[in-house]
Amino acid sequence: MAEESTPKAGIENIPRTIWWDADETTGRPAVFLIDQTRLPLQGDILQCNVAEGVCVAIGTLAVRGAPALGVAAALALALWSENETEGIDTVDEYLEALDEVSQKVSSARPTAINLMWGAQRIRLLAHDNADLPLAELKELVLQEALNMQSEDEERNRTLGRYGADLLPEKAKVLTHCNAGSLATAYFGTALGVIFTAHEDGKIEHVWVDETRPVNQGGRLTAWELRLANIPSALIADNMAASVMKSGWVDAVIVGADRICANGDTANKIGTYGLAILAAEHNIPFYVAAPTSSIDLTLSTGDQIPIEERDPRELTGFTVGGTFEPDSPEATRAFDLLTESGSYDVPLARGHEMTIHRKGGGYSFDAWFKITPPGIEVYNPAFDVTPANYITAFITEAGVVYPDPDFETAIALATMGSNSIHEIGMRREIAEILASEMPVELSDEGE
Ligand code: MRU
Repeated sequence: MAEESTPKAGIENIPRTIWWDADETTGRPAVFLIDQTRLPLQGDILQCNVAEGVCVAIGTLAVRGAPALGVAAALALALWSENETEGIDTVDEYLEALDEVSQKVSSARPTAINLMWGAQRIRLLAHDNADLPLAELKELVLQEALNMQSEDEERNRTLGRYGADLLPEKAKVLTHCNAGSLATAYFGTALGVIFTAHEDGKIEHVWVDETRPVNQGGRLTAWELRLANIPSALIADNMAASVMKSGWVDAVIVGADRICANGDTANKIGTYGLAILAAEHNIPFYVAAPTSSIDLTLSTGDQIPIEERDPRELTGFTVGGTFEPDSPEATRAFDLLTESGSYDVPLARGHEMTIHRKGGGYSFDAWFKITPPGIEVYNPAFDVTPANYITAFITEAGVVYPDPDFETAIALATMGSNSIHEIGMRREIAEILASEMPVELSDEGE
């Protein structure tokens, strides 16, 4: 296996994806995030001053990953509350407008339940405290959003511990897409398990699925593992079967975008295939996710809305970068071309490239076509893995097994965790659970 030189950094250097801060000039609050569409070669920081900016970042995948989307939704509402409520004088008006913004934020993407969870938690908190003066209500909203950010990190660290204990010594693990620090407020879910196991000295090797079409495995997971100095190798998605057959995988660990009442789980496209392969090779298949990814309102995975994305993710590939001209003549030429701010390079055969001025230099965004013109495309971003292929769910509330009564076990796990089901249907859930025999959660194997 060919390997490039290993970076010196460790787990403490894994990246943070989203944070709350003040605008440098105005001092107004803003949400900052790393543009994940350009990582790892470019680490642009995006600043959102209004909730709509966060929605755009969500839609374009600048911020992505189910738990991170939950936090992004909460911060978007807090941002609206702080920066966009100037003409609102009464609590009633505030709550009405909050409902509208919450609806917009929740519909920025359809599959990860955490997005709706994040918005819903803020919205319901505000409604539950409608008796407060407006200024106090706003402060409460802001504090809740910030708490949700730190809570997410805590959850990941806790589930990371539970998951690490499930792995054997010298574990060889395969993971799909990016369920790392970048997909969460910090630390990651599937990668949180791997980071914790690595700190225990248990990880021998991690196989990183490239994860077409937007290569979040090859770009983001590969980067996080390199930063954490964990031995890993990149494979194309269609290599997983062969790697498993060779006996090089002890466990598959993936994240989740939505887990239904029967345990069916939506995750990045390709996860279902991996689960079947793992079953065929007798390899345990773990889903690591916080309880905010659980949606007990859906009884089976058939009900999960699956996002379909732009065909261009499949018909070409996107590259971007920066450059500095190497002579005064070249600088003059690029200055002239980008006089209006940007320049569309007239490439032949459907390729596209735009050059922008950036700081003292230039940046480019390019899309190179690789398929025949007019090809029809089907590009679902997620698939659903049936519960029977999942060995266990690793949550911050413990390890939950699909058998014998998954729905009750998972309902119990969500109690007190502020899952979407709980915050939306507190009374109903209490009634259902009151009539059920409690099922014990375990942090050990069956
Ligand atoms: O499209 P994305 O990047 O938002 O999808 C989310 C994912 O990266 C994966 O499905 C992941 O495993 C679940 S989020 C930890």
